[in-house]
Amino acid sequence: MTDPDRRSPPCALVIFGASGDLTARKLLPALERLATYGALPPQVTLIGVARTPMSDGEFRDYCRERVPGTAGPGWTALTASARYVAGGYDDPATHRRLAEVLDECDRDAGTAGNRVYYFATPPRLFGPIAVHLAEAGLGRSPLGGFVRAVIEKPFGWDEASARDLYADLSSAFAEEQIFRIDHYLAKETVQNLLALRFANSIFEPIWNRTWVDNVQITVAETLGVGDRGGFYETTGAMRDIVQNHVLQVLSLFLMEPPTSFHPEAIRDEKVKLLRAIRPLDEAADVTANAVRGQYTRGGTREDLMTGYRDEPGVDPLSSTETFVALRLDIDNWRWTGVPVYVRTGKRLPCRVTEVAMEFHRPPQLPLFPGPAGDLEPDALVVRVQPDEGLSLRFGAKVPGHAFRVQKASMDFSYESFEEQAPDAYERVILDALIGDPTLFIRADEVGRSWRIVDPVLEHWSEDPGSIPLYQAATWGPPEAAALIARDGRRWRTPS
Ligand code: BG6
Repeated sequence: MTDPDRRSPPCALVIFGASGDLTARKLLPALERLATYGALPPQVTLIGVARTPMSDGEFRDYCRERVPGTAGPGWTALTASARYVAGGYDDPATHRRLAEVLDECDRDAGTAGNRVYYFATPPRLFGPIAVHLAEAGLGRSPLGGFVRAVIEKPFGWDEASARDLYADLSSAFAEEQIFRIDHYLAKETVQNLLALRFANSIFEPIWNRTWVDNVQITVAETLGVGDRGGFYETTGAMRDIVQNHVLQVLSLFLMEPPTSFHPEAIRDEKVKLLRAIRPLDEAADVTANAVRGQYTRGGTREDLMTGYRDEPGVDPLSSTETFVALRLDIDNWRWTGVPVYVRTGKRLPCRVTEVAMEFHRPPQLPLFPGPAGDLEPDALVVRVQPDEGLSLRFGAKVPGHAFRVQKASMDFSYESFEEQAPDAYERVILDALIGDPTLFIRADEVGRSWRIVDPVLEHWSEDPGSIPLYQAATWGPPEAAALIARDGRRWRTPS
């Protein structure tokens, strides 16, 4: 299944945090699949860097053990040539040793001076690692090859710290060298938003305020914070999901058509859309348009779920939000007057990510005065996960003598394709190796996203005591339903 255009060039792939959780759970399995498809030629060398003492041989065994039961020739070759550098991330000696290993790989393994650094460490180490790489001269290639840095969210904690992180990264890398991952952009259905909008002409005429009444984006999870309580306490749903995944999906869905599919053309349109979102600057804007919540104990007798404050690593008096609902307005020609409702949370009744566009109701309902007014509006729903697909919901007559109208839908499921969607990490690793930045976030998008969420977080932090609560396995606090009901609308029930 190798696509010859989707094959990595020769390259040293350096993973910082090689003995950590992300590497074991996501990166090594993705590399195994890429190697098995033949997307990684023999001149791709994996170099692990971490504090855990290991020899090259032990690191090779470690990689093989993390992806058991597979021994394809590609994976065997990749693991057999893997190298390892043990040391502290802020110890210059580690970076000097890495420089030597990289030179050896260029000389002996044909990596051609190309380097991709994957930062799979805790985020507080991103800046210091970049500064040390710069000091060791590793931000440039000795042979004129490419050098790239791949980092994962969080990109800062607010707009100011995102700027500080950028300054540190910039000591080693130019913006074009920095690949910021949002794994939602690598989801097949999120990319299908581009195909849906721009490979078809039927949707374009209705993609505006003339036809669309409102947009609803739901990112719902059934899981709680599990053993990530410590991390989540400093993050919360706004920073964990809204600042990145939600705003990325929203901007792809609602941006203007790009003039080409060049990565910069797409990213330009996304950032224009983010700039058009009206920030909730005043306290009154936040009160009217933003709701937070925190889950408490709930569920059923058989499946009783712990409340957030009782989760390990969580402050028993925590005011961290595990749920967010927002009403956003977009001040541009296309979307003025079309509210965008966003909600996300942990411990909601089902796991679903969907983007729905509800259309205006017919101007008059002469045929069915009574209950038809209660019909859900027509809608186009893009289901990102699970059961990836697309539905068009509309009213249809129920067979029979009476004129009764009921909701019907036309559904497309991704299962109708024989091809398997690649895992998000396979996609982003290969894109970074190839150098395609389309699915990565640019610095100006990061800054603008913080500009949207910062005022809300600031307002909430001034009033930590009053977080609304919701029982686990419900759709958030009652304030969320009230937020949308005020506009005479209601949240969709994902089905
Ligand atoms: C991550 C968040 O970015 O996305 C997690 O840090 C969240 O808290 C996860 O659970 C959801 O991703 P997915 O792909 O399972 O929807």
